Amino acid sequence: MDIAPYVPGLATAPVSGPIAKLSSNETPLGTSQLAIEAYRASAPELHRYPDGSAKKMRGAIGHQFGIHPDRIVCGNGSDDLIYLLTGAFSGVGDEVLFSRYSFAMYQIAAQSVGATPVEAADEKLGSNVDNLLNSVTSDTKICFLANPNNPTGTYLSCAELGRLRLELPDNILLVIDAAYAEYMRQADYSNGMELADNYDNVVVTRTFSKIYGLAALRLGWLYGPPEVVDVLNRTRCPFNVSEAAQAAGVAALQDQAFVEAAVQHNELWRPWLESELTKVGLTVHPSAANFVLVSFKGKTAGTAQRAYEYLLENGVIGRSLGGYGLSEHLRFSVGLEDENRKLVELLGCFERR
Ligand SMILES: Cc1ncc(COP(=O)(O)O)c(C=O)c1O
Repeated sequence: MDIAPYVPGLATAPVSGPIAKLSSNETPLGTSQLAIEAYRASAPELHRYPDGSAKKMRGAIGHQFGIHPDRIVCGNGSDDLIYLLTGAFSGVGDEVLFSRYSFAMYQIAAQSVGATPVEAADEKLGSNVDNLLNSVTSDTKICFLANPNNPTGTYLSCAELGRLRLELPDNILLVIDAAYAEYMRQADYSNGMELADNYDNVVVTRTFSKIYGLAALRLGWLYGPPEVVDVLNRTRCPFNVSEAAQAAGVAALQDQAFVEAAVQHNELWRPWLESELTKVGLTVHPSAANFVLVSFKGKTAGTAQRAYEYLLENGVIGRSLGGYGLSEHLRFSVGLEDENRKLVELLGCFERR
């Protein structure tokens, strides 16, 4: 009963007319037509159980990313994998480490298996390797790192990520959550896959919910050492990924032009949002991903919540972050052009009121 339930972004607003849903870091570009067709084509087999080993799906991921399919585990979204890892490698009396303002599921997963969640201090809302290392105890079993992080949009450089692994004790599993990896174009970024190649205590989790536009189908995967994969293949539910999700996922991987279009869209509109929101007098934290974090700090208490409600009344759904301890901030996904323009226009009006 101590677990604070995860609060998802709202999906509807109490208005007639178009709604800009900027609350869950989804792609604004929808879903690849290839994936939609594959999803539809799976309908006649709905009465059959899916392939519990996700063989074709893992083969397609392996092919796309140049990794061995035997070292991949698919999940019902990457949330499923976060839970599985936490349950398999920590329990009562153990500690699960992550940075303050990290993705909410690490804390929930740790608590749900009776482990103690431990938050290391942040640095400018992002992770700091020394703070993480200083928070390690003999009970630490897992260290989660979202890179880039949701909801703050911060990331650790490749060098810092490598240092974290080198200086963490070997018995601690480092889980690099790279849910937004495809969006990253920064030269000093690494999605952690080579660390998972070189160490037997590193796992990388990925998802089809973000840039691949398949959030509704729940499809995630991880790449890890054979020993970890072996454990998860024993503890996971036997049919944890639906056939429709696998079919759509395989097809989505074939449509890399769709992925590239989303990257280009993001490269254009995230900086635009950052600069336009700054012009209307707001503080925007530098973000590396497909969302921006806006600060209302220094304004009257409750301003962020009022802005959230004002946007909602006008058909724009942002994400309030009280549950993250960021009640003076709002997060917005990068939307379509008209959605981004509407967001800026409304926040401009709000600021001038
Ligand atoms: C950092 C991070 N990890 C994991 C997830 C979970 O994604 P899914 O379960 O849809 O794969 C999210 C979703 O918002 C996220 O932001």
